[in-house]
This record gives sequence, structure tokens and C-alpha cells, in this order.
Amino acid sequence: MLAQTPPMGWNTWNTFGPDINETLLSEVIDLFVHDGLRDAGYTYVVIDDLWSAPERVNGRLTWDTAKFPHGIKALSDYAHSKGLKFGIYSCAGTYTCGNQPGSYGYEEIDAQTFAEWGVDFLKYDFCYVPPGVNGPMLYRRMGQALRATGRPILFNICEWGRHKPWKWGTQAGGHMWRTTGDIADSWESILKIGFQEQAELAPYAGPGHWNDPDMLVVGMYGKGNVAQGGCTEAEYRSHFSLWCLLAAPLMIGCDVRKMSPSTRAILLNHELIAVNQDELGCQGYRVGQVDYAYEIAETWAKPLADGSIAVGLFNLGTRQPRLISVPWESLGLHPQRACHVRNLWTGEDLGGFTASFSIPVDSHDVVIIRISPIS
Ligand code: GLA
Repeated sequence: MLAQTPPMGWNTWNTFGPDINETLLSEVIDLFVHDGLRDAGYTYVVIDDLWSAPERVNGRLTWDTAKFPHGIKALSDYAHSKGLKFGIYSCAGTYTCGNQPGSYGYEEIDAQTFAEWGVDFLKYDFCYVPPGVNGPMLYRRMGQALRATGRPILFNICEWGRHKPWKWGTQAGGHMWRTTGDIADSWESILKIGFQEQAELAPYAGPGHWNDPDMLVVGMYGKGNVAQGGCTEAEYRSHFSLWCLLAAPLMIGCDVRKMSPSTRAILLNHELIAVNQDELGCQGYRVGQVDYAYEIAETWAKPLADGSIAVGLFNLGTRQPRLISVPWESLGLHPQRACHVRNLWTGEDLGGFTASFSIPVDSHDVVIIRISPIS
């Protein structure tokens, strides 16, 4: 069974856009092993758009030989030899968003090609869909074609939430579906996509099927294909924390060959990753929102399999710091229940609390705690 916990990995698009080639990919694969990303759970290395030749050959997709002289199969073999999984990209329309051949009308042959190349993950986009064609039907078609190959291929539906894929994605064979348009490397984008657009979607996620609020921009610092000014370290921390609480797929988008110590500390925080990967598979939801004249503070909670609850206390305002509280009642805990509280960013055990927990949080920053009822 694929995607029993949210998929984790890396994708070329956010930083590299069209500038991809086999040297980059093999360097990233090596680094995933040497720098502990693989062992932290990041296993899917995914090539996004603009990997293919501009024309099909005998009806089949083939690669751009300038970018991938040894071909896609060699790259997927290399990823597998390092204990990683390999992903690729195509599109439900006649062309991809980057104007390469799309899979419309070629779903079965393309699924077969991907299976022959040893592909483990397909991101399937939604550009150039002929007018009048039913979008969800195109995803069902590719989902069926992937299943028919017999190879387990994780199916990433990417139609930007247009047709509410959280309602039909599982039936289409999807394991994760984009719920929004493309993320940009900016605090505004994180606020919109993360804090505003995901709040209602928690009931639709679970083991094998996840809402996907797009890839991580942590560590891009305003460089690369989707750069838009960049974010501060506090903002990247908030972004990663929310994605962990949302049980979102964790697809890294920065240049992992050049990670700063802070980026590494964020992406490899094993207590945060454990929250994201918790086997209960429950997507976090907003439990509190306080608006002090547009200075908003929010609390989000994610119930965990061992009976504890991960809670993010986010200061979305610009004035700093703000004291943020989470009352036990908002979490479904009896106010007199004694709970142990641990700060997951600092790794500090903060002691036993009843009724509520409060802590000052800097502007655009977050404190994530794990609240464990004491039995
Ligand atoms: C769409 C997708 C992006 C990326 C590009 C590639 O915009 O949403 O994530 O795959 O296409 O062209």
C-alpha cells in the first residue's frame, strides 16, 4: 500500500524549473544518502516538467538527450541503487504546462513507458486540456492506466484544486492531490495557501490519500524558479511546521546541495517529521484564531496515534512578540487533565500543565508543542 504516511522527497521545479539534467539529479541522489535526508524519510526524488524531447518517437515519450544523455531508466536505476524512489511528471492535456508533449490520448502507453523506466511516482498536471473534456475523468483514466501496469506508482494529482479533487481523488487512484495553485517563495504565499486555504480540508486526508498544498519553499531564500523575495528563517519554520501539522506531503524544493545550517535544522527536525508521519494519519486543523486588529494569532492541532496532540502556536502578525495560549478545551481535553508539554523545536521538556498552555511567540514565528496527557 502506497503513501500510508505523507510522501516525502524532493522535486526539481521550485528551484530549477527548466534547468535540469542528469548531473544535478545524481548529485541530489548522492546527497540524499550522505546528508541523511533519505534516512530522515525523504525518499522520492522527482523530475518535474521539461525533461522530455519535444516530440514523441513512435508514439512514445522520450527524454531530452542533451539533459539526460544516459536516459531516464539509468537515473531511476541509480536512485534505486541508493535506496531511493524515482518520480517523473506528465500532464493530462495535449501539452505539459511547459509545452512538452502531454499524455492526453496516450495514457496507457505513457503509463507503460513509465513502468518500464522504473518510475515510482507520477505528478500529473492539468494544462492544455481540450475544451469540454471532463477533468476528473482524465485523472481516472491515468489512474487506471497506472494500475494496469502492475507496478506500484504513487499518483500525484495536480489540477490545483479546480474540481475539488479531495472529493474524487481516491476513486481516481490518486494518493495525493494539489489543493491550490502554485506556491511562491514568499510569506504572502504561505499565508494564503497554508493558513487560509487548507483549514476546511482536514476530513479528506488519511493513510493512502493526502491533501497537497504544494512543495516546500524552505531554504530557497529568494533564489530559483518560484522565488518571490524569499522568506525569513522564522517564516520558513512556520511554513514547515504548518505542513507537518497538515500531514502534507513534504517535497523539498530548495537546492539541497547548498542548504544553510538553518535550512538543514528545519528540514531534518525529526520530532516535526514524526508529527507529519504519525501513523494515525490525521490532518491537523485550526482550533483557535485571535484577531487583534489584523494581528492574527492562530493555533492548529494534530491528534497523534499515542494519544498526544501536536499543537502549533503561530504569530501571523507583524508586532512581536505575542503571548499565545491554547486552552485544553479547544483540544477536547478536560481542563483538569494534567499534561506533559514538550517544545518540538528546542527539544525542551517544559513540564506538567493543566487547563491551558501559553508562550510568547515572535512575529511570523511558531512554537510547536506536543501535549501528552499524564496517565
Ligand atoms: C504547474 C504545476 C507546477 C509545475 C509546473 C511545471 O504549474 O502546478 O507545480 O509542475 O506546472 O510546468
